[in-house]
Amino acid sequence: MAVRHFIDLWQLEASELRGILDEAHAMKKARAGWPKGRADEGAPLDGHILAMIFEKSSTRTRTSFDVGIRQLGGTSIVVNSNDMQLGRGESIGDTARVLSRYVDMVMIRANDHTDIEDFAEASSVPVINGLTDRSHPCQIMADLMTLEEHGLDLKDARLAWVGDGNNVCSSFIHAAPKFGFTLAIGTPDRYAPDEDDLELARELQGRIEVFDNAEDAAESADVVIADTFVSMGDSDADERLDELEPYAVTEELMELAQPGAKFLHCLPAHRGEEVDSEVIDGPNSLVFDEAENRLHAQKAIMRWCLDK
Ligand code: CP
Ligand code: NVA
Repeated sequence: MAVRHFIDLWQLEASELRGILDEAHAMKKARAGWPKGRADEGAPLDGHILAMIFEKSSTRTRTSFDVGIRQLGGTSIVVNSNDMQLGRGESIGDTARVLSRYVDMVMIRANDHTDIEDFAEASSVPVINGLTDRSHPCQIMADLMTLEEHGLDLKDARLAWVGDGNNVCSSFIHAAPKFGFTLAIGTPDRYAPDEDDLELARELQGRIEVFDNAEDAAESADVVIADTFVSMGDSDADERLDELEPYAVTEELMELAQPGAKFLHCLPAHRGEEVDSEVIDGPNSLVFDEAENRLHAQKAIMRWCLDK
């Protein structure tokens, strides 16, 4: 069987993604109320080791993968890329071949998406994308799980993305044709989503609408989604903050959406920049369920990668 990498959502069949979410819901329910360090029934990844390589900061991804592999019965090693020979010029291919001899699976948070593709190409164990400059697929699996948990049928749902058409937005674009939701994106032209992603989603019959303002995107949406205006690695912070200011999620913007529309944000958030505290700390914000579900969704992703 070919090695199962989890690099981008468009590379998986809709049925595989559906299976991962179903598994995530079931595993979360099965351990409700348990201490967080207790292993799941049957410890499905008993004896397996996950290596995690970080080129950028992380709170949620690092902790949720580490806790997740332990709940599955496995163990983890965390490596900062600066401490590896990678930083002194060892090739990505050689690093992947070597790590494949020690561990069963590798999660990478990389600056450059092509580095993760090169790593996966040389790796004989599954590679999981823990965020790159181009995408953040694990995040979107947790986000969709959260919406389902709160009663949304994704096939009928209208999701609005407002702000920067960034890496997280790209993974929502990849997910749209796979799960059948409509994605309405409101971004300034300068920070519009990647054209290749939009074309790919449309080829797969994804329902994607792109607007140059936040209001048209938020109109009648079931869910409004924001992310930081300045992502890790962006060097033009001042210009972004200026240009993206009209795309902030305020109570007025939420009023254009469906009554009771939900709010999502992958975190970390900047209150008063991309979202007002009344929204992110309000009754329709799901951000902490969303953060928790990183754990459950990624456990299902790791099981899918190892077919266990
Ligand atoms: N949302 C997310 O990926 O958070 P971290 O950067 O803290 O991992
Ligand atoms: N778009 C953000 C997401 C952080 C989880 C970034 O890349 O920094």
